[in-house]
Amino acid sequence: MAAAHMNTRHRQRSFFCVDDHLVSRSCFFFIIFFVVIAIVFLQTHALKKPLVSLSTSSSSPSSSSASWESDASATVGIKDCARKLENATSRLQNMVKFLPLKDLRFAGKPMYGHTWFMSSINDTIEDNMPLYIHFPSNHTNGRVLCLAGNDRSNGTKNSYALAWRDSLPHGAKLLGGLTIVSDTFYGHNNLWHGQSAVLPIVGWYNMKKVEPARFVLYHKGELRSSRGKWVQSVVDIVFGKRIAYETFDDGRTQPRRHPTCFEEAVVLRHNEGGMPKLKRREVYDLIRKSARKHCNISNTSRSPRTVGLTLFLRKGSRSFKNDSAVIEVFKKECDKVGGCKLGVISPDNLSFCDQVKLMSETDVLVTQHGAQLTNLIFMDRNSSVMEFFPKAWLEYAGVGQYVFHWMADWAGMRHEGAWRDEMDEAKDIKEDRCSFPPKESRCFTYYKDRQIGHNQTYLAHWACQVLRRFKPGGGNLPEDSNSGT
Ligand SMILES: *[C@@H]1O[C@H](CO)[C@@H](O)[C@H](O)[C@H]1NC(C)=O
Ligand SMILES: *[C@@H]1O[C@H](CO)[C@@H](O)[C@H](O)[C@H]1NC(C)=O
Ligand SMILES: *[C@@H]1O[C@H](CO)[C@@H](O)[C@H](O)[C@H]1NC(C)=O
Ligand SMILES: *[C@@H]1O[C@H](CO)[C@@H](O)[C@H](O)[C@H]1NC(C)=O
Ligand SMILES: *[C@@H]1O[C@H](CO)[C@@H](O)[C@H](O)[C@H]1NC(C)=O
Ligand SMILES: *[C@@H]1O[C@H](CO)[C@@H](O)[C@H](O)[C@H]1NC(C)=O
Ligand SMILES: *[C@@H]1O[C@H](CO)[C@@H](O)[C@H](O)[C@H]1NC(C)=O
Ligand SMILES: *[C@@H]1O[C@H](CO)[C@@H](O)[C@H](O)[C@H]1NC(C)=O
Ligand SMILES: *[C@@H]1O[C@H](CO)[C@@H](O)[C@H](O)[C@H]1NC(C)=O
Ligand SMILES: *[C@@H]1O[C@H](CO)[C@@H](O)[C@H](O)[C@H]1NC(C)=O
Repeated sequence: MAAAHMNTRHRQRSFFCVDDHLVSRSCFFFIIFFVVIAIVFLQTHALKKPLVSLSTSSSSPSSSSASWESDASATVGIKDCARKLENATSRLQNMVKFLPLKDLRFAGKPMYGHTWFMSSINDTIEDNMPLYIHFPSNHTNGRVLCLAGNDRSNGTKNSYALAWRDSLPHGAKLLGGLTIVSDTFYGHNNLWHGQSAVLPIVGWYNMKKVEPARFVLYHKGELRSSRGKWVQSVVDIVFGKRIAYETFDDGRTQPRRHPTCFEEAVVLRHNEGGMPKLKRREVYDLIRKSARKHCNISNTSRSPRTVGLTLFLRKGSRSFKNDSAVIEVFKKECDKVGGCKLGVISPDNLSFCDQVKLMSETDVLVTQHGAQLTNLIFMDRNSSVMEFFPKAWLEYAGVGQYVFHWMADWAGMRHEGAWRDEMDEAKDIKEDRCSFPPKESRCFTYYKDRQIGHNQTYLAHWACQVLRRFKPGGGNLPEDSNSGT
């Protein structure tokens, strides 16, 4: 701290030593003004204390404008002054300080508080909005965001800076329009992680209604140029066009060496965690509505008194040992409910719109744990999900197994619980010859994609319970629950 302080002092003195005897009085004020800005700027960006507000720098230079006019030494003075101003601007340019996008000081808690991404800048907190940072804004003292961020394997090598538009760093390119910059700690390919990074973007867009001109994608501060397929489909549908990601290479093979600055930028770095629960629900509503619209699904095609029961049965990994036995149980229960229509379908070969259509006709979804479950968000709110797991998931799979439970909850669906093949640890582990100790997660690979059995008594009871809600007078079926959105 002491060293940093002395350093600042030293700079301060050297600024005041600049041939001040040659400087006209009026000019002197301008130089002082720029020096004050520059010093505050430097301090703001000292790595040790990244959170200083810049509001003090807005002290007005207007007192000097009077003496400017009354200064008789006319054009020479003005020219001299212009030169000094230029000089000061150039110094300001040189002083734009880049900081690492990924701040390793927060490596222990990368998603906590400010997160380790652009750690020196506070989020804007607004009612009914995801947390975001807006550039330029009063918050950034009118400065725009600049990125020197092409690295795809080390987020610490990528950096960001704030700069005034008239003193951008040397060689910087200014891109017009709105740029949405999104970072996540978890990744953009996996369905679950990918969608959780997309929610705040959709949430922000839904409120502000400003069309982004481009998107910049980071994972732990490392540049990315794509998302997982399903997640990308959702993004494309919401924005109504194919969305690409900035690669900072101007279409060449080599990335741009100089920084890129953005006329306007919004940074989202909190995943869904920066959003209240009701906001998430609103975002899912928007995604559902956009997807149905995109897929030309009318909301009038269904009678409000039908109950769609869909068995979405995986083939291969995590399939049922006996599909027909499971179908039989559900068919029997469905027949007991007036208006219940049973559909049995496999996720294979279904296009995105096939899936959206299927889900828009489903009130109760019966399916194994797996990626196809992500489509639950295309069902109406209040519809139900019944999930199935192979054995050992409960014991070994960790919290990740609950993602669809959370997703259903966020999107306003009812997760009706799960049925799991039971595990006999002593016997199963011995038979599978998993050489790791019991409770060891590496054993999980032996079970992860196993086929799933069934218990007829249990399933019949469970199905009956869930479907009862949809019986006229038998539950809380909302009058319009099937009419779509
Ligand atoms: C940023 O937030 C911290 C608390 O999280 C606060 O102490 C600080 O004053 C804020 N800085 C600015 C510039 O608003
Ligand atoms: C700015 O002024 C200082 C002192 O007069 C001089 O040393 C420096 O070279 C100037 N810089 C530019 C970029 O003109
Ligand atoms: C930004 O600051 C200006 C001047 O201080 C003020 O008039 C304006 O309302 C502020 N804008 C926001 C969004 O706070
Ligand atoms: C990432 O880059 C930083 C800064 O250049 C360097 O200190 C660090 O060792 C790099 N990390 C890895 C894993 O390469
Ligand atoms: C939806 O309908 C429009 C107009 O009828 C058509 O151009 C478009 O291709 C359809 N979209 C899908 C996904 O079927
Ligand atoms: C269908 O959806 C559209 C758009 O959301 C809505 O305006 C319309 O009222 C809906 N129609 C019915 C019958 O619910
Ligand atoms: C699957 O279940 C059905 C109905 O319970 C039964 O008839 C059939 O034998 C079973 N198949 C196998 C391979 O166990
Ligand atoms: C999916 O498509 C492949 C090739 O087009 C076909 O062989 C297979 O039978 C299809 N599967 C289903 C369930 O329709
Ligand atoms: C099947 O489920 C029923 C009801 O939960 C339970 O009583 C029975 O023990 C189960 N059967 C087997 C073989 O696990
Ligand atoms: C969902 O169910 C709750 C209570 O069961 C009800 O208050 C709400 O209106 C329903 N929402 C929709 C969209 O049907």
